Amino acid sequence: MGAKTFEEIGGPAARRHLFLCTGPDCCAPGQGLATWEHLKASLKEHAIPALRTKAACLRMCHDGPWLVVYPDGVWYAQVTPERFDRIRREHLEGGTPVAEWVRAVNPLVK
Ligand code: FES
Repeated sequence: MGAKTFEEIGGPAARRHLFLCTGPDCCAPGQGLATWEHLKASLKEHAIPALRTKAACLRMCHDGPWLVVYPDGVWYAQVTPERFDRIRREHLEGGTPVAEWVRAVNPLVK
């Protein structure tokens, strides 16, 4: 891991911050970690300007892995690696959330 600066983690360029819960209660840890590893690789491969954080629990311990995208405030349920690919294309790159997988929307700045 190691200590990094805000610049080194891509903070100044970030347009979004993604939080992914990897279980163990909302999904099997292996399932959550598979999505997490895919998410990290996909953001890097496609040069998506987003910060990412692996969350231990987002307090809705069912139907995971949960992905929350800020500042949009979009909550996605059951995010598999395959689903993340579509979320990346349509939401993170295209700007339109994948409505069929959205469970809640609450931008925190109103
Ligand atoms: S363990 Fe994922 S929301 Fe609680």
